[in-house]
Amino acid sequence: MLQQAAAQLRDTQGRVARYLRVSLTDRCQLRCRYCMPADLAWMPNERLLSAAELSRLITIAVTRLGVRKVRFTGGEPLLRPDVASIIASVPPDAAVSLTTNGLELPKHLPGLVSAGLKSVNISIDALNRRTYAHITGRDRLADALAGLRQALEARLRVKVNTVILRGVNEGEILPLADFCLANGCELRFIEQMPLGPLATDPVSAAEILTALRARYELRPLPRTSAPTQLYDVGGGRIGVIATVSFPFCQLCDRTRLTADGHVRACLFDDTEHDLRTPLRAGASDEELAYLWLAAQRQKAPGHLIGQASFRKPVRTMSMIGG
Ligand code: 5AD
Ligand code: SF4
Repeated sequence: MLQQAAAQLRDTQGRVARYLRVSLTDRCQLRCRYCMPADLAWMPNERLLSAAELSRLITIAVTRLGVRKVRFTGGEPLLRPDVASIIASVPPDAAVSLTTNGLELPKHLPGLVSAGLKSVNISIDALNRRTYAHITGRDRLADALAGLRQALEARLRVKVNTVILRGVNEGEILPLADFCLANGCELRFIEQMPLGPLATDPVSAAEILTALRARYELRPLPRTSAPTQLYDVGGGRIGVIATVSFPFCQLCDRTRLTADGHVRACLFDDTEHDLRTPLRAGASDEELAYLWLAAQRQKAPGHLIGQASFRKPVRTMSMIGG
């Protein structure tokens, strides 16, 4: 039988999503103040997709819907004991990566490497222990750094994600740049988005670049992914993700799957489409693919951050997947 050509996750704006972000759990050991309220109640376990359910949906996305990159996020994805088997089940047509706070990396690394993981993004907002604890609510910097070091030793490509908060860790911009350049990690500064519990006056990408230029010469590199503007810094690379000051919604190539099995086309649009209920009710792969296509078609044109009509999304980043 002739195989049907894969459909594409195309929306009404003509954007095609080839990049799937999957949240494996809403749980996290940290309480980053821009991400999670201190008193968040976890989703009950039965609402989370099982490894088999995740593998099935991801396989549909890759083999039928043209997804070519899958990133696992959380909450903290390494809190799932079955994370390596989930990664191993991603069809080979898609590149796989993981965004983690790094705390559990040492425990999982052998399994992750065997599962084929090649690259990992580790969130570290400060190299000063007190500042890290102040931002994350936990005194765990040493564990995050041990995770990073072991990931490098395991020859994974390591990127570091940093959110700069005004009046909190602006002084960490240069130390983090020095550290990442010295260790061969790509550092990416993400503008704080109005998603979490923290009132925002985000430090802009322009401000971060000014701080970096005090020590480094930055040479802009051609843009390869929509969100990140990368700079060559003496042979190393540093990037800024200017979600707020320079929205890239028109170029967005993402679709998202929440930990409880809902397609969420846009981080900032509360519209979600439930795949878990039909999945558990026995829907076929064709039906699930169709539901996903229909969900993505209605993707919102873009976020309204900074405009009067902006409404903060109801679900936090830890539930949606960063
Ligand atoms: N703004 C910007 N980045 C955020 N992250 C979580 N919440 C926010 C926010 N409100 C980042 C984390 C992590 C990634 C998953 O998303 O720092 O690196
Ligand atoms: Fe946890 Fe990541 Fe949210 Fe921090 S940003 S609380 S590490 S999920």
